[in-house]
Amino acid sequence: MNIIVTGGAGFIGSNFVFYEREKHPEDRIVCVDKLTYAGNLSTLEPVMQDPMFRFVKADICDRAAMEQLFEEEKPDMVVNFAAESHVDRSIENPEIFLETNIIGTAVLMDTCRKYGIKRYHQVSTDEVYGDLPMDRPDLFFTEETPLHTSSPYSSSKASADLLVNAYHRTYGLPVSISRCSNNYGPYQFPEKLIPLMIANALADKPLPVYGEGLNIRDWLYVEDHCKAIDIIIREGKVGEVYNIGGHNEMRNIDIVKLILDYLGKPESLITHVTDRKGHDQRYAIDPAKIHSELGWLPETMFKDGIVKTIEWYLNNKSWWEEIISGEYQNYYQEMYGNR
Ligand code: NAD
Ligand code: DAU
Repeated sequence: MNIIVTGGAGFIGSNFVFYEREKHPEDRIVCVDKLTYAGNLSTLEPVMQDPMFRFVKADICDRAAMEQLFEEEKPDMVVNFAAESHVDRSIENPEIFLETNIIGTAVLMDTCRKYGIKRYHQVSTDEVYGDLPMDRPDLFFTEETPLHTSSPYSSSKASADLLVNAYHRTYGLPVSISRCSNNYGPYQFPEKLIPLMIANALADKPLPVYGEGLNIRDWLYVEDHCKAIDIIIREGKVGEVYNIGGHNEMRNIDIVKLILDYLGKPESLITHVTDRKGHDQRYAIDPAKIHSELGWLPETMFKDGIVKTIEWYLNNKSWWEEIISGEYQNYYQEMYGNR
């Protein structure tokens, strides 16, 4: 099979490229990435010389570029990871989120319709369901939970999901959608909670916790997410949505303390800063459908995954130190300077 993976120079996309090359060496992977601030070509270094891998720098919103690529590659599948993915950035500047996450998805699917495809898979998020109240630990997001978004980011992802369903119903495009909870692991850009806290702790800088840090996220090791997508694109039913998560709810403050403890740094580094606007309270996925229909279960326990992750950041300082030495400094100052 020939599989186009968009956004493969980012966090989850690159982990998926590595997973696929190892699990299915017979399949060719074509990675399409615009290389925004979040995309890093050095991440893909281990596969750049692989004859079953090709990297193409392109924008998924660029219709002509997508058509040329499909002409050349005649892909069997497209797995769309490409997105603007950071909630905080979407609050500051929503427009690029609408372009990439909505228009880009439409352009990709139009191209799939034009050239034919066995499967178009949309990598979506649990954030499309909005949030759950803190005082109802019995509630979980199922695939039937109504879409009810909070941020420009989640609204753009929900819009894309609606388009994907519409292309299936209207044009019969063979689609699937996965909605995953928060990922952590190697190669995550250090503007997201876990790598940011690791990097700041190592530099003895303040750890900016939004509000009291009581918000809950449902954390999944990135490789488990990649395994789930791999199963969905090969065995999942066309036209279906699959939630992905591992029942691992944690409060932000507890994760931050755990990181400080592992690194032997003092809790006095924790700095409570102004809360995120519209901050979702709790996410919690019910993964019963993907478990019962496709046999998927998460394999990495959080206690092991977080150690692997911290150790990865300790052993790969050059990867993230280079990232945070450039334009990121301006972002950090703007985001946290007067908070
Ligand atoms: P990321 O920000 O690390 O990577 C996104 C990648 O997409 C980057 O390589 C970037 O260069 C590329 N990209 C951005 N705009 C593009 C465009 N117009 N054309 C081509 N490439 C473009 O994101 P991530 O955390 O790896 O998330 C990947 C996908 O998974 C996203 O769709 C996101 O919504 C979804 N998701 C993420 C999480 C999570 O916890 N990170 C959880 C659930 C779902
Ligand atoms: O749930 C899936 C989503 O998880 C994905 O769709 C998004 O692409 C991904 O970025 C992630 O969104 P979050 O907003 O949950 O992730 P983030 O790492 O930005 O924040 C996690 C929690 O930590 C959230 O409650 C906000 C808080 N936080 C975050 C940062 C960056 C802080 O307290 N301080 C911070 O500096």
